[in-house]
Amino acid sequence: MVRIVLLGPPGSGKGTQAETLVKDYHLAHISTGNILRENIRKGTMLGKQAKAIIGSGQLVNDEIMIGIIKDAVKGKKNFILDGFPRTIKQAEDLEKINLSPNLSLYINCPDDAIIKRLSGRRTNPITQQTYNIYTNPPPKGMHVVQREDDRENVVKDRLAVYRKSTAPLIDFYKKKGILREVNGEQTIENVAKNVNAIMQKIA
Ligand code: AP5
Ligand code: MG
Repeated sequence: MVRIVLLGPPGSGKGTQAETLVKDYHLAHISTGNILRENIRKGTMLGKQAKAIIGSGQLVNDEIMIGIIKDAVKGKKNFILDGFPRTIKQAEDLEKINLSPNLSLYINCPDDAIIKRLSGRRTNPITQQTYNIYTNPPPKGMHVVQREDDRENVVKDRLAVYRKSTAPLIDFYKKKGILREVNGEQTIENVAKNVNAIMQKIA
């Protein structure tokens, strides 16, 4: 059984590394950000509730998020959670439903690199595959879009929310002895190599 929680500031490369991990280790990729954005696109009740919150870089309410996770993990044994938990309350709720992770991968990255990366991020709206006009350009002719919350003023708010509400999870998982840290300020390939080395030890 493999249950991974990806931790790290916005733009640290959680989604990018998850894409490689799911292929190499046959895990389900559960990205709460992607689930919320899909609901916004479809205009569901959840999407309507979440739109303004995401657009301002704040967090969606913990009760709503645990409900989303319960639904998303149904029938899945091996998975990677990308973007959840994001508060201590969410991490405690995960334990209560007997879904404690056995590895928390923390991708560390400084603010200046994050601000540059997020300004260059583009996403394929159909596959959700992420690219970057500076470091990882989309194939020529592919239709890609920019996320609304990647505007610089929103990115600053997301970083502040991360520091206040999510960064305490680093200590939370360190105390449980399952935290492994990776330097996210390297090429995508080198971060993946470091992640892979950690995976080899737990596999
Ligand atoms: P979410 O979608 O989870 O956003 P995030 O955590 O802010 O993280 P990002 O997706 O922006 O970054 P990432 O780490 O995945 O980086 P990526 O790989 O794309 O959440 C969005 C919103 O939803 C939240 O703000 C909140 O409102 C709400 N939400 C979601 N979950 C919630 C929860 N549990 N509770 C409450 N609210 C919740 O990489 C970024 C860019 O950099 C890409 O362009 C990529 O190509 C490039 N890149 C990646 N790695 C490298 C590298 N090593 N070198 C150079 N470039 C790189
Ligand atoms: Mg992401």
